[in-house]
Amino acid sequence: MTTTRSTTSESAPESAPKSTPAAPITVPPFAVIPGAQVQRALRGREKQIVELVEATYRVHGAGDSVNPPSYFLRFPDRPSSRIIALPASIGGEVRVDGLKWISSFPENVAAGIPRASAVLILNDHDTGYPFACLESSIISATRTAASAAAAADRLSRDRPRPTRVGFFGVGLIARYIHTFLVGTGWSFDDIGVHDLSTDSAAGFRCYLEQSGATGRITVHDNAEQLIRNSDLVVFATVAGQPHVGDLSWFEHNPVVLHVSLRDLTPEILLASTNIVDDIEHCLKADTSPHLAEQLTGNRDFVHGTLDDVMAGRVTVPADRPVVFSPFGLGVLDLAVGKYVYDEVARCGELHVVDDFFHELSRYG
Ligand SMILES: NC(=O)c1ccc[n+]([C@@H]2O[C@H](COP(=O)([O-])OP(=O)(O)OC[C@H]3O[C@@H](n4cnc5c(N)ncnc54)[C@H](O)[C@@H]3O)[C@@H](O)[C@H]2O)c1
Repeated sequence: MTTTRSTTSESAPESAPKSTPAAPITVPPFAVIPGAQVQRALRGREKQIVELVEATYRVHGAGDSVNPPSYFLRFPDRPSSRIIALPASIGGEVRVDGLKWISSFPENVAAGIPRASAVLILNDHDTGYPFACLESSIISATRTAASAAAAADRLSRDRPRPTRVGFFGVGLIARYIHTFLVGTGWSFDDIGVHDLSTDSAAGFRCYLEQSGATGRITVHDNAEQLIRNSDLVVFATVAGQPHVGDLSWFEHNPVVLHVSLRDLTPEILLASTNIVDDIEHCLKADTSPHLAEQLTGNRDFVHGTLDDVMAGRVTVPADRPVVFSPFGLGVLDLAVGKYVYDEVARCGELHVVDDFFHELSRYG
């Protein structure tokens, strides 16, 4: 159902162009997009999604976005759990506003269900009306993995391309990152796996074997061996505090995707080139870069953003480790969510909820 309102009004500003009548503003239909549709829209599109995420970083870097701090809802009776609200607005070609609302309940994993669950609301640019609610754990994992794959590529351009990857913490996010690396052309001679949970390590190994991953798979009981044997290290744990701090483990100058943000001690960061997605965002919430700022009293250890690297404003020396710490920006969820919406709409498969917005006449 579509309701039309006219924008023509006697109080229109004097300067409003009179020759071209304004397009009618309408209340958009409201659609619900379940996970199966989200997955179909994104599957096999790794290259396009990485390009979309890079374009979104450029739009954000150019200032054509609003991305306020995430709001963390925590619970005294469930201290390990949280729900985060990420409101955002993105310009450029995407031009949409919205909110990701994502829960993290780590105890879910023991019960056999994923830690994170999420919805994404998209709001219409012109009316503010919400026009879609999408299952968003897949969108969130997808944008995180696409950002990691973009960083792996961009940060390794001035050094030999890594052929040995090590996954440190192997849950859902590690699986998506591996899928995105392979989907964007990476292949590895060696794939290292390390996890505190033997079940997780076994599950990830099983996924790698079933996905037809090339390369020798080694499960390392020992974190040091994983890092020393990897030129590309992916941290995707749920650690709340740094647990890796031995500089000698990094003397081969790997590319480190520090997706879980709190694994490395400040000393490791201070000995590395540090690239983030957004400086203000990343230096918050007790992330390792935040701890490094507290230790040094400044932000000099941050060399720039991934957008700076893409634009050539920052170069990445090969003779020290490089650490990418992405806080995870709501604008990425919006861009990927709008891509999904457009795909589902293009296929004529939108599930529209008729009469969702029902009270549309001011005086009844
Ligand atoms: N930066 C971003 O944009 C972004 C986006 C999404 C998720 N994340 C983060 O990615 C991380 C992984 O998410 P997930 O959904 O895959 O979680 P998950 O619970 O499915 O998997 C995490 C795995 O890490 C393992 N682990 C925990 N602590 C460890 C340690 N100290 N050493 C080795 N292994 C350890 C666990 O056993 C588990 O197998 C989370 O911290 C999440 O917050 C970051």
